[in-house]
Amino acid sequence: MSPVPAIPGGIVQPPSVGVRFAGVGSALPSKPVKNTDLEKLMDTSDEWIVQRTGIHSRYVVDRSRGESTLSLATQSLDNALTDAHMKPGDLDLILLATMTAEMSCPPTACRLASEIGAGTIGAIDVTAACCGFVYSLNMAYGLIRSGLYRSIAVVGADTLSKYLQYDNSGRSTSILFGDAAGATILRATDDTSKGLIAQAMHSDGNRWVDLYIPESLEHDFPDGHEASDEKVQRVQMNGRAVFKFAVGTFSGVIQQTLDDAGLHADDVDMYVCHQSNARILTAARDRFGLDQDRLYINIDRVGNTVAASVPLCLDELTKSGRVKEGQRVMFVAFGGGLTWGTSLWQL
Ligand code: UT7
Repeated sequence: MSPVPAIPGGIVQPPSVGVRFAGVGSALPSKPVKNTDLEKLMDTSDEWIVQRTGIHSRYVVDRSRGESTLSLATQSLDNALTDAHMKPGDLDLILLATMTAEMSCPPTACRLASEIGAGTIGAIDVTAACCGFVYSLNMAYGLIRSGLYRSIAVVGADTLSKYLQYDNSGRSTSILFGDAAGATILRATDDTSKGLIAQAMHSDGNRWVDLYIPESLEHDFPDGHEASDEKVQRVQMNGRAVFKFAVGTFSGVIQQTLDDAGLHADDVDMYVCHQSNARILTAARDRFGLDQDRLYINIDRVGNTVAASVPLCLDELTKSGRVKEGQRVMFVAFGGGLTWGTSLWQL
């Protein structure tokens, strides 16, 4: 429950510990939305969506049933705790990666800690758009390795549907995104062979205009972007620019991480990537000559679920036995910010 005690003099003793994935879980909302459902709301077609994105269906929250970022995060973390055979009181800290917090104050992570019954532990929202979960894995690793904490829940949860417009004005984004949550628990272990091998976290704030959600009509629209009331609180994305950026960056950051680790693409058992667009993922798979099984794709069933995308894949892969202890796994993401990053693990 409590963090590792400080040694006399107030300095934490850095232990020689490994870090392991103790449990995983995920949650999807109750409302499936198929491409054919979207055809009834906007000028689009199943064929266009499948060809451009690889998506057939996604899930969105039903707010009348109380579903939200918080409810999905809670369900996914409950599932991860069960998987880890742990009680909420065994956690020391929660990092919740989300760009769709319930409100700007309080942090949704605090309510999550309360909902699961974890007492008064530290709880932080991490906002790094689609990279939030991968960034949080790297941060949690550092906190455990430093000796400050022993058990950290890393959760990714997003309900971007609340910032989408399900009509013609929002057809280029509403077809892409879905809602979900995924959670994992990282724990200190005496087995020092387990843990992070290499990582990367990058951002380019000059490119923020390619993907943003304006809060204010007067202040938040960049030069050259037409401001309107209808666009406030709605995702604004230059899809083509983000797509181009993503194809290059995805391969670049994977290569950089492999180089840092002194590994080849084939030395990694599984690539667990942010599900942005099936074409971006298959381009990366082709670039590294990976066989189909080694870079997981589930965007066809769930769409792009922002910070939930990577942990949702991890949960599916773990449950199906395709990711297991002893493997090397690379987590990869990119998104608004613009941000991009990796986290390469020895499980
Ligand atoms: O996770 C966060 C990071 N985000 C991403 O990774 C998104 C990356 N970008 C993409 O995935 C793609 O850019 C999209 C799927 C969003 C769009 O595909 P695209 O091939 O880049 O299409 P486009 O935006 O260039 O639009 C092509 C045409 C346009 O019509 P005109 O101007 O050529 O007449 C659009 O108006 O397709 C039209 N269009 C649609 N048509 C049917 C846009 N949305 C739709 C739609 N249905 N839903």
